[in-house]
Amino acid sequence: MVHLQAHGPTGRRDNPRHSKHAGKRTCLDFERTLIRSVGRMTTTLITGANKGLGFETARRLVAAGHTVYVGSRDPGRGRRAAERLGARAVRLDVTDDGSVAAAAATIEADGGLDVLVNNAGIQVELGTDGAAAVTADMMRETFDTNVFGTVRVLHAFLPLLRRSPAPVVVNVSSGLASFTRVTTRGGPGYAYPGVAYPASKAAVNMVTVQFAKAFPAMRINAVEPGYTSTDLNHHGGHQTVEEGAEIIVRMAQVTADGPTGGYFDAHGTLPW
Ligand SMILES: NC(=O)c1ccc[n+]([C@@H]2O[C@H](COP(=O)([O-])OP(=O)(O)OC[C@H]3O[C@@H](n4cnc5c(N)ncnc54)[C@H](OP(=O)(O)O)[C@@H]3O)[C@@H](O)[C@H]2O)c1
Repeated sequence: MVHLQAHGPTGRRDNPRHSKHAGKRTCLDFERTLIRSVGRMTTTLITGANKGLGFETARRLVAAGHTVYVGSRDPGRGRRAAERLGARAVRLDVTDDGSVAAAAATIEADGGLDVLVNNAGIQVELGTDGAAAVTADMMRETFDTNVFGTVRVLHAFLPLLRRSPAPVVVNVSSGLASFTRVTTRGGPGYAYPGVAYPASKAAVNMVTVQFAKAFPAMRINAVEPGYTSTDLNHHGGHQTVEEGAEIIVRMAQVTADGPTGGYFDAHGTLPW
């Protein structure tokens, strides 16, 4: 997709490593650039990868030759998924500091991390009356996983990512995070009545742009997989997981000259 290759507003030109004022380039810089330009094998962690879109993303990245950690809050489910995929399993509950810190220590000891896919997510208000039924507890539970979990994992893995020659973060957002979509009558998302889930994903988008500005050497983007048949929506989605994982897989493999601070689906940039 041409627009995914294009330099975003905070893309390559804003990266001090690529600035014409950056000074003399070292051999190491050259080597790193070469590795990036020919495509490289990465180590990737995907949270909530024991099923659904995370599992399919893991399957595709393993098939492409990458080393993949299947993050799962349940060790048994994670181990079984990893065995099926030829991946590595790591216990990781995004709502639990100790579990996230232990996962970071394990992956650091194994050699580090290049790509983080913040995929774990919940939708607790499915089947309710939306605004009429939403409670503070539902908001808290949703934000705990979808937003605070994303930040908890990002924070814990930042030191590892900063040591990677080409760090990448993919935050799995939703089309329901788009104010434009949710407020455009007749558009996709307008009819969705829920409050907690779209609010949490809108927060994920803001987390994405603020982290992208703070870490210009990383490619940090939010993606919308599209309405995909998984347990999250009781298999109401019209897409297959193969279709839904497409943009996650693509952005997980984005190179150092790719976009950052963006919001994409499989067809290109989405309106905020
Ligand atoms: N499906 C869609 O139409 C759609 C559309 C847009 C965005 N998304 C997003 O895509 C992502 C993946 O969702 P999915 O559709 O693949 O749903 P899913 O099949 O229900 O998978 C969700 C995954 O998140 C894990 N998870 C939940 N809470 C967790 C926690 N506290 N710690 C670690 N893992 C946790 C689940 O683990 P357990 O098996 O232990 O529950 C599961 O592995 C979510 O962020 C979702 O919001 C989905």
